[in-house]
Amino acid sequence: MQRFVTADIDAIDAYKLLSGLVVPRPIGWIGTRSADGVNNLAPYSFFNAVAASPPTVMFAPTGQPSARKDTLTNVRDTGVFTVNIVNFDLGPAMNETSGTHAADVDEFEVAGLTVREAELVDAPSVAEAPATFECRVVQILDIGEAPMGSSVVFGEVLAFDVADRLLDGTRVDQVGLDSIGRHVGNYYSHNGELYEMARPD
Ligand SMILES: Cc1cc2nc3c(=O)[nH]c(=O)nc-3n(C[C@H](O)[C@H](O)[C@H](O)COP(=O)(O)O)c2cc1C
Repeated sequence: MQRFVTADIDAIDAYKLLSGLVVPRPIGWIGTRSADGVNNLAPYSFFNAVAASPPTVMFAPTGQPSARKDTLTNVRDTGVFTVNIVNFDLGPAMNETSGTHAADVDEFEVAGLTVREAELVDAPSVAEAPATFECRVVQILDIGEAPMGSSVVFGEVLAFDVADRLLDGTRVDQVGLDSIGRHVGNYYSHNGELYEMARPD
């Protein structure tokens, strides 16, 4: 065993240890709309479900407070977002939306995805996704300091939309969902196998 005491290592090494060991991570593909009405879509794997009543999820834009993350700006401005579940077939489109795009770029157009308007919140969702959640922000918790801090966004799920073919009541068919998990760097897992997708610029 090698031991790393946080006080003795750089933030980047702590990030590498966390993102290499807390795996596979679910991917929250977060849809938002800017105050100017521009649609935005980006993947976040510092993402999870944290409560069931009320159903609550979190995701965490990193590199705070310095890095420009349009998703964070938008949720601070509008207080709402969608979560879109990524299956294996949507992996390349999800990866495409992780590129560094200017705030006025609509990642739905970049990745050739169809916008489906959320009903309870003013945010876009991914029509091609097997499931989407409509969420309202309940809290944003700032953790740590630049350049590797995070802003953790907690959102209450107001509605779940799930493809009929995946449902037996509220039981979700895991094989049919065909989700992927994030590992360190460009690695993902699918059906227990690791594979790579290189990040766009
Ligand atoms: C699978 C995957 C997971 C990611 N997870 C995170 C994350 O948890 N936090 C983060 O800040 N960036 C994460 N990123 C990088 C963002 O998606 C990227 O910075 C994106 O450009 C942010 O877009 P935005 O500015 O529209 O919010 C991830 C990228 C990929 C491909």
